[in-house]
Amino acid sequence: MVNPYRLPRTVLPRRYDLTLTPDLAAATFAGAIDIEVEVTEPTGEVVLNAVELEIDAAWVTVGSTRYGATVALNEDTERATLTMPQALPAGEAVVSLRFRGLLNDKLRGFYRSTFTDDAGVERVIATTQFEATDARRAFPCWDEPDFKARFAITLHIDDDLHAVSNAAIVTDEELDGQRRVRFAETMTMSTYLVAFIVGPLEATEPVDVAGTPLRVLCPPGKLHLTTFGLEVAEFSLTYLADYFDLPYPGDSMDLVAIPDFAFGAMENLGCVTFRETLLLADPERATQGELQNVVDVIAHELAHMWFGDLVTMRWWNGIWLNEAFATFMELKVTDAFRPEWERWVSFGLARSTAFDTDALQTTRPIEYPVVSPADAEGMFDVLTYEKGAAVVRMLEQYLGEEEFRSGIRKYMANHQYGNTETTDLWDAIEEVSGEPVRRIMDSWIFQGGHPIVSLEARDGGRTLRISQEKLQYLHDEPDATRWAIPLQLRYALESGEVVSTTALLDDETLDLSLPEPVAWVVANAQGHGFYRVRASGPLRASLVAQAQIVLSDVERYGLVDDTWASVLAGTTTVEDYLALADGFTGETDVSVWRRLLSGLDQIDRLAAGDARIALQARVRVLVGPALERLGWEECPDDTDRDRELRGVLIGAMANLGVDPDARARVAELFERYCADSNSVEANVAAAVVRATAATAGPAEIDTILEKFQHGETPQEELRFLYALAEVRDPKQMARVLELAMTPAVRTQNAPFLIGSCIANRDNGPQAWKLVHERWDEMNERFPSNSIVRMLSGIRSVTDPVLAADIEAFTAEHPVPQAKQTLLQHLERMKVSVALREREAPRLTSETAPSRSGRGGR
Ligand code: BES
Ligand code: ZN
Repeated sequence: MVNPYRLPRTVLPRRYDLTLTPDLAAATFAGAIDIEVEVTEPTGEVVLNAVELEIDAAWVTVGSTRYGATVALNEDTERATLTMPQALPAGEAVVSLRFRGLLNDKLRGFYRSTFTDDAGVERVIATTQFEATDARRAFPCWDEPDFKARFAITLHIDDDLHAVSNAAIVTDEELDGQRRVRFAETMTMSTYLVAFIVGPLEATEPVDVAGTPLRVLCPPGKLHLTTFGLEVAEFSLTYLADYFDLPYPGDSMDLVAIPDFAFGAMENLGCVTFRETLLLADPERATQGELQNVVDVIAHELAHMWFGDLVTMRWWNGIWLNEAFATFMELKVTDAFRPEWERWVSFGLARSTAFDTDALQTTRPIEYPVVSPADAEGMFDVLTYEKGAAVVRMLEQYLGEEEFRSGIRKYMANHQYGNTETTDLWDAIEEVSGEPVRRIMDSWIFQGGHPIVSLEARDGGRTLRISQEKLQYLHDEPDATRWAIPLQLRYALESGEVVSTTALLDDETLDLSLPEPVAWVVANAQGHGFYRVRASGPLRASLVAQAQIVLSDVERYGLVDDTWASVLAGTTTVEDYLALADGFTGETDVSVWRRLLSGLDQIDRLAAGDARIALQARVRVLVGPALERLGWEECPDDTDRDRELRGVLIGAMANLGVDPDARARVAELFERYCADSNSVEANVAAAVVRATAATAGPAEIDTILEKFQHGETPQEELRFLYALAEVRDPKQMARVLELAMTPAVRTQNAPFLIGSCIANRDNGPQAWKLVHERWDEMNERFPSNSIVRMLSGIRSVTDPVLAADIEAFTAEHPVPQAKQTLLQHLERMKVSVALREREAPRLTSETAPSRSGRGGR
């Protein structure tokens, strides 16, 4: 079938010469483009992409012959067809167009971002965001990833502005009262990676990184927040060039902070754009999470310079190649940059979000057909990123890091400047490693879902039976899907001997014969596998009893996480989960704590009256001693993760535990922090702001709003803003929701705030009502990609009446750019509702702390 969105391949672009003249005050731009093309067969038509552009003139030049062209625009297929009176001959030609457009406020294409300067004056930055299919909104082009070409860009700008683009500036001269800034020609690359930015920006001095000048650019007055980002970028570029064994392919590297940005960041070659919070930070005043985000995102985008920019997927079905690999590399870089952050442990949390969607019937395979631009947009989800990165990590650990890297180097060297299919990657790794890489990976990439691996001791413990089946939260019939599972096993024999081994489970079962009876088994040793584990009877009991002794941090994380998944699947009760949690009071790892507490938080949503009071007491018994050990005050020998943990435990004690002492200290600290933002450690401060927001009345909300509007760093600003989603007082929630719909909250942030409000235990229905009533306005104002993120709040809705309303509403109000993700949110909501139906009646005041709690280490 012909895809109406795909361009014919009779005319191929080779080099674009693009001149743009943006008028920031009028919010318009004018453009001139001359595209050197190769005509592969004689044709009377040139078809390329363009949308929301006025095309004033078009012609084609072949040698000295000029062919005038008429232009027809098709808004549905986002194409422009140039028709010439006679056919163009095969060979070289130049396609020329003159056009105009609007600098829109939708955060896509060529758009305007604004901020208020120190003098209180509104300033405008004209900037671009082209991935996946929005380059066509800025200039007519062959806007598909495999039409790679070179780009020579010229910008006409006002004297007092700064201009940046993919390559270094080659000339900057006066012209008719403006400046004409010409950039060097880029390497051969895809249109979605083109970028140009014009505005009142400030730049750091360049740092020389192996010959590449590296800078950070930002709105005025923020240069003091660039040091950390520069350090991370320098580290990342160096690490990545070594890993891929190829130098950075561009001629310069600018990282630019943009006040209005739809995504987190974007890997435009040599001109990477970011939300301010993900680039500009003061490491002394940021939380561990905020700082880790900065490192992750910079590393991620820089990894794309090779994986994505230099070697690119052929079409959007292969976007996972880009994103999963950049996510995987981001973790490796962060892990190397700050080993003490234990990035592969905290990755467990991201992997859990992937499992949580992948356990639905509405999940999809990682690689998935893409037809339209809306389909392409829908691909950037948790399965592409987190599941993708997790299965890449699983393969890397199975093959060995060196072996895997050799395969990657081979792939990069073979395909640089080109486009690839997923199989090209497996072939390269297979060639180097000799392992059946393609067969293993096909089972993970082309099938949705994931397995649960069950363990059973037979023959008095001398045979370990390992079997797999598909894990689904809601299941109606058995599913025969099987995976080729690279198992990492560690087990102890009766004598105490501990054995580590690997095995490939590609049948339904595998029997392992052991020389002595087995004592315990870890079936996902080091937690790199994208599968869940279930042990029953004595095998489970022995593991649970010794969790704090024989399991590593990641493995304890996995035990809790797998147990919670089985609660959602209905095979374990909430009471069993609580009993497991009781044994973790001696826990010291922050990721394990986060996982434990997120389960407790979900249980808290099911509990009411006495049952809830009992649960709160149980939380205090669990969390109290851990917080006491760590202390409320910073200690000199705290690790970064200890500091993070302190914030997490304080939040849990005050909110979930409703501990009066903790609440009193929170109130005290909130006052101290608001009086002097340097007086409270960042992780504690962030927890205190959230805890305060939860119980806030009008006065506290006033303070939080004030602080949000005058945040001293981008992170602080958002810390105050997003804390507002915790508000329990319905009147205050009404204020928050109203605010979210005003210009006081940037459209890049409002959907996230509203989404968290939907997930608010007490005020979710009120937030949902806002979505219901102002849906059109939201779709008009908010960036297209953020709508489904806003709706992600419905996943935690447990009330069947609200759920029914949400289902009915979304049936009438589709989200075409995120169809599948919306279906997943809806199914996940059903899982929450079912959980409530199953478990709420069982939660009683008897849910008191169990005395049989296994006291920890
Ligand atoms: N290429 C993406 C940005 C993007 C996402 C463009 C979706 C178009 C559609 C970029 O590399 C990216 O992945 N950004 C992430 C942050 C990243 C660190 C996970 C984002 O924006 O969420
Ligand atoms: Zn990415």
